[in-house]
Formats: sequence, structure tokens, C-alpha cells
Amino acid sequence: MKPYREMSRDELLQLKAELEKRYQEAQAENLHLDMSRGKPSVEQLDISMEMMDVLNSEADLKDSEGVDCRNYGVLDGVKEAKELLGQMSEVSPDKIIIYGNSSLNVMYDTVARAMTHGIMGHTPWAKLDQVKFLCPVPGYDRHFAITEYFGIEMIQVPMTPEGPDMDQVEKLVSSDPAVKGIWCVPKYSNPQGITYSDETVRRFAHLKPAAEDFRIFWDNAYCVHHLYEDQQDFLLEILDECEKAGNPDLVYKFCSTSKISFPGSGVACIATSPNNLKDIKKQLTIQTIGHDKVNQLRHVRFFKDIDGIHAHMRKHAAIMRPKFEAVLETFERELAGLEIGSWIRPRGGYFISFDAMEGCAKAIVAKCKAAGVVMTGAGATYPYGKDPKDSNIRIAPSFPTREELATATDLFVLCVKLASVEKLLEA
Ligand SMILES: Cc1ncc(COP(=O)(O)O)c(C=O)c1O
Repeated sequence: MKPYREMSRDELLQLKAELEKRYQEAQAENLHLDMSRGKPSVEQLDISMEMMDVLNSEADLKDSEGVDCRNYGVLDGVKEAKELLGQMSEVSPDKIIIYGNSSLNVMYDTVARAMTHGIMGHTPWAKLDQVKFLCPVPGYDRHFAITEYFGIEMIQVPMTPEGPDMDQVEKLVSSDPAVKGIWCVPKYSNPQGITYSDETVRRFAHLKPAAEDFRIFWDNAYCVHHLYEDQQDFLLEILDECEKAGNPDLVYKFCSTSKISFPGSGVACIATSPNNLKDIKKQLTIQTIGHDKVNQLRHVRFFKDIDGIHAHMRKHAAIMRPKFEAVLETFERELAGLEIGSWIRPRGGYFISFDAMEGCAKAIVAKCKAAGVVMTGAGATYPYGKDPKDSNIRIAPSFPTREELATATDLFVLCVKLASVEKLLEA
């Protein structure tokens, strides 16, 4: 089929009638499907069930240093948990604090602490007239929700295939002392699945911020979430690069086992420089006596080491890969050449990012919803929920079954076609 833009008005009207008929048929099917959030499927959760068996009433709940994990204590995590999450985060265990069940919670705390108490002796952000964060777009809605909640002004920076546009990042960070942070998902990014290039990571490490309390919020949520054995993205280790660049305190790195074991019941951590760790611990010691050490032990005894994590991730990939491929094949078959949308084929992570014709994303998502398929809200991938081009839609293929996903994807492409035809007829 030729590009929709090249069709005459009559051709478009005829196409619209055909698509509307198919849409009405789809509506009559009474679907109830959800492609909105990046949740692992039931099948994926099942592969971690043996973790429930590694501890029982007869288990020795002492850690490798003899600490009784049933009791209070150990502010920054048990030794073996620091080693395991250290391997996952590619940093030495002494650069890690193990937290509770959610890395998003750690990020929230990190911003909250900067707001109320400042970073390493600097003025608390809440006392400043203006605090700004750079937000690579499209990005993760919950990052943007944190900065919005604290009244931090968000400045969009476009993503490129190599990561955020570093010319813009460098310019904004070095010229404006109100710019205090940037949100980054550097590997298999949410939603595009992009991994930052070596050059991007090095440029981050060499930033010369106007604000001494500027920090990079490096959310490595998808560090081990490859879809393929033979085609994996590689990300330079940022803490190491920052040290080499003479900028050791520039970055907070976050990670969790949420989409490895059980989301909401995993183990999260922060990795950062000794100066930052000391600063964080001043607050942490007031906030808690220590996080859930029993869960830390459970994770370590189940996974054992990084090889155990990689083996486990291969099981996730075996479930996820066919789902991603099914969506992408449908896009190729149904949409290639029509010039009404573009998408990225990720090699890992949890999402497929789809860019519709400008001004169509909201209409597509609404049409899907009216036919029983819930997508992530259009605009969610932009600060304040406002996509200036009304174009980006985040697709989360993990949760539905393969059959459900096939039905939902068929409906999605139908809605893309219909919304695009309607848009072209408006012109
Ligand atoms: C980029 C990113 N960071 C963090 C999270 C949430 O992590 P956690 O469950 O550890 O809070 C998600 C979940 O979708 C995510 O996509």
C-alpha cells in the first residue's frame, strides 16, 4: 500500500469507511486488555517462586558476618546483598547502600533529601527560588511525577539514538545554576529501549555543572534485561568514568531486582561515591534502623551470584522475546511504508516506543480504550503529561498473554490507521 499522505481524498474516504467497519466489529468483541504498564506476566512471576523455598523455619538466618537477620541493625545492607547488587550495578560493594523494596522510593527519597537538607552542605533546594531538572524525552512518567510533585521545573531534552542530546545537556548544565539534576534511564531506556553510547556516558562524566550540587540520577532499572543472547547492548560504567574525569560525586546510580524477582517485593540500592554515601547515611540513620534483611538474604540465597541473575534473566527473555517480536512483526506487516508511524526495535528492557503522526496519539489511545484495550496514556512519556507533538505512545508487551497481545496489537494498528486517516482528512 502507498503512503497515506499520497492518497486522494476519495481514496482516504473509502479507506476510512473500511477501517470504521473493522473497528465496529472489534468493538463488538468486548475486549478487556491492558498494555499500559510494564508489569511482568504471571508466567514471569512464576519463575521466581522457588525463592519462596530458600528460607523456612529451619533456615539459618545469620548473614556471612554472623548478623542475625531477624533482628534490628545493619543500616546499609548485609554484606552478601551488597556484593550481589554490587555485581549487578558493576560497582564494588563499598559503594552501595541496600534499601527496601523499590528503587523509585530511593529516587524519591534522594530528591526529598536534597529539597529539605541540601546535598553535601549546599542550600536545600526548597530554599531556592528556582530548581530545574533536565528530562530526556520520551521518558519514564514516574520520574517526572517525582520532580513535578516537588515543584521542580522540568526542561525537556530530546533523546537521540545515542542517548540524550548532549549538546543541549552540556549547555544547560554548565550555564544555569538552577539546573540541579537530570533523569536518565541509560540502558534499554523507558520507553525507547535505547542504550547510551560510550561517548554519551563520557560526556556525562565530564560535565562541568554551574551548580556544585548538580547530580545525574542514573536509573539503571534495566541493566540485565536483555532480550537476546547474541545481541546485547553494553553500557559504560558511569561511576568509574566520573572518577576518571575527576568528577567522582556527580552521579547517583539506582537499581533494583523488581523486574528480576517480584516487583514490589524485590531489593533496591543506590551506588555512589564515598562522599555522597556519607551524606545519604546522615539522613538514613534517622529514617530507619535498617531495611528488610530477611528479603536480602532470600534474594542472595536464591540467585547466589551474578551468573545466577543472568541465568534467571534468560528465562525472562524467553517469555518476553516472542511478545516483543509479535508486536514488531505486526507493525512491520501492517504499517511499514504507510508513513503514519515509526517505532524502535529494542534489544532489551520492557517497552516499545511508537511515534504516531503528529496530533494522533491521544486519538489512538482513546480509540483503543473505547474498544477495550488500555494503553499507557498519551503524553505520559513527557513532563506534565504533555507531549508537544501528541505523537508518542508507550507499548508494554509484557503483561498480556501472547493471544491477548496479538488481539490488542491488531486493534492498536487499526486505531493508528483510523486516527491517521481522520487526521489527513481534517487537513
Ligand atoms: C526506569 C524505571 N525505573 C524504576 C522503575 C520502578 O522500579 P522499582 O520497582 O524498583 O521502584 C521502573 C518500573 O517500571 C522503571 O521503568
